[in-house]
Amino acid sequence: MSKITAAITAVGAYVPDYVLTNDILATMVDTNDEWITTRTGIKERRILKDKDKGTSFLGIKAAEDLITKRNLDPEEIDMVIFATATPDLLVASTAAYVASKIGAVNAFSYDLQAACSSFLYGMSTAASYIEAGRYKKVLVIGADKMSSIIDYTDRTTCIIFGDGGGAALFEPNNEGLGLQDEYLRTDGIGREFLKIEAGGSLLPPSEETIANGQHFVRQDGKTVFKYAVSNMADASTKIMERNNISGDDVDWLIAHQANKRIISATANRMNLDENKVLMNIQRYGNTTSATLPLLLSDYEKQLKKGDNIVFASFGGGFTWGSIFLKWAYNS
Ligand code: UT7
Repeated sequence: MSKITAAITAVGAYVPDYVLTNDILATMVDTNDEWITTRTGIKERRILKDKDKGTSFLGIKAAEDLITKRNLDPEEIDMVIFATATPDLLVASTAAYVASKIGAVNAFSYDLQAACSSFLYGMSTAASYIEAGRYKKVLVIGADKMSSIIDYTDRTTCIIFGDGGGAALFEPNNEGLGLQDEYLRTDGIGREFLKIEAGGSLLPPSEETIANGQHFVRQDGKTVFKYAVSNMADASTKIMERNNISGDDVDWLIAHQANKRIISATANRMNLDENKVLMNIQRYGNTTSATLPLLLSDYEKQLKKGDNIVFASFGGGFTWGSIFLKWAYNS
């Protein structure tokens, strides 16, 4: 019997309507379009303005987009993985709420938190369940309302992040397409350099933590940048070596959209032509768990059955890695 592989068979996405441009940010903090564009590649990002809507809203919209496009009966979904760093609530599972709202009433579901690598790790989890033969339809949703944890007076973080959601359906494949290999890593050294200090069990929220702005995400950008460049490039080249593929064999790099310079450095190490590097950071900024599925959705029409895709990400924790996947359909 041939091995069951796990392929992506449908994608969906959603970004909110409100566009926060570099010029608007320049009226809020001491920055300018030229600095943001040259240092990050970002021109604008989307923000979910509705005060009564959390990350689940973005995830539900993305999942509904997939369900409609694929004409999928949500009752057939076995499992929903909700990859996010900004759950609606700290305790009640966002995944459970989202699964119910999209009509996945026969699914079990859970949240998966690995900062910017949440979706990549979710891909690995989904594929493992499929390869094991336990489930047939696993929906991975990556969504983040980053604007809910951003200090819009801090120019070192507010220029980077945006809100969005994306989704991918994993199903068994008998042609050997889908996930081929993965190289996933973590290093707790990263906790110092990218975090929300208060609001968790270590430092519960108080008047003092609010006054200090410790409920916002903070990062030591330079240090994170250094680790991101070396680890994302290492993981991507390692997976190529292990699978005996060169830059010529790779059709697309789908990398976490944190900074255009990090993505370019990774592509250089992989010996990859620029036109194989999928990019939408200029329009959305860093949407954390949503960057990879947003790329899949934006470029879905260009992806062809059998294409070799290298996924790569790096995020808080630190968490990072790379996945080699063969695309399974023409749209
Ligand atoms: O997705 C999770 C992982 N996160 C990342 O991968 C983020 C990684 N880090 C980065 O992308 C970059 O470090 C940043 C985009 C955050 C910053 O770029 P940088 O080239 O590392 O700038 P820097 O922090 O070294 O700052 C250079 C200068 C500083 O001024 P001085 O000290 O040289 O006078 C900053 O104060 O730029 C200043 N600066 C700004 N100027 C205008 C910092 N932020 C801004 C700003 N506008 N928004």
